[in-house]
Amino acid sequence: MKLGVFDSGLGGLVIAKAIGKALPAHDMVYLGDTLHVPYGSRSLEAVTHYTQRSIDYLFRKADCKLIIMACNTASAIALRNLQQNYLVKNYPDRRILGVVVPTLETALEEGHSRIGLLATERIVRSSIYKTELEKIGRGIKLFQKSAPLLVPAIELNTKEWIRPLLREYIKPLLAQNIECLILGCTHYAFLKNVIQKKVGKGVHVMSQDDIIPGKLVDYLKRHPEIDRHITRRRRNSFLVTDITDSYIRNARSIYKKDIDIKKVVI
Ligand code: DGL
Repeated sequence: MKLGVFDSGLGGLVIAKAIGKALPAHDMVYLGDTLHVPYGSRSLEAVTHYTQRSIDYLFRKADCKLIIMACNTASAIALRNLQQNYLVKNYPDRRILGVVVPTLETALEEGHSRIGLLATERIVRSSIYKTELEKIGRGIKLFQKSAPLLVPAIELNTKEWIRPLLREYIKPLLAQNIECLILGCTHYAFLKNVIQKKVGKGVHVMSQDDIIPGKLVDYLKRHPEIDRHITRRRRNSFLVTDITDSYIRNARSIYKKDIDIKKVVI
């Protein structure tokens, strides 16, 4: 069986690559729902439906034992329901892990008490980070800012727009004297160095490609009953629901080598 990584499109590849470094022998399947990206500006019904179909594909066709839901928007909207209903009913011995709780845990482990969050409109509106933080970090303050134009600007690689957009989005967060800034969207990992420069040394930029691999290694150590089912043949496969030249170019530039990307119908 395999380890699955799911994202709405491109950004999750940065997380998949980092997971591959931490667990090089584990067989991994990446699925990007590029036909329906961006999830961040879609309706609740659409995100729920597309996420469920993608997850179902990863379990049924790709034989995954465990799936990392790298997409923050899908984690915010569809994860709880999939864990509590779909999994229990269909695959009670398999698991789906999201990225919100591990990210907040890391912020707390680092001792931050004023946390900034930059995320898609859907994530901010869902209040998922606030809800989860209230469970594990009483008294810790969270300041959120949605950045609706950032995903399209990153996808189109329009550098001249990215800097002014970042300035606008980050300004109100810095005004709250945040100590760390969570990049709550897979796409923003591309900008982590630019954002770190913008916010200065006093604010730690927390990107999920730096957080999730370590948390996953730790989870697998604590759950040998899951880990022992994942085969170790050093095989990675990359699946998408729509394929374009720019996706292939971007994927190559993330992996710094050619990777074989297949289009699938989910
Ligand atoms: N993958 C999405 C997330 O992490 C960002 C891109 C999108 O809106 O689909 O929220």
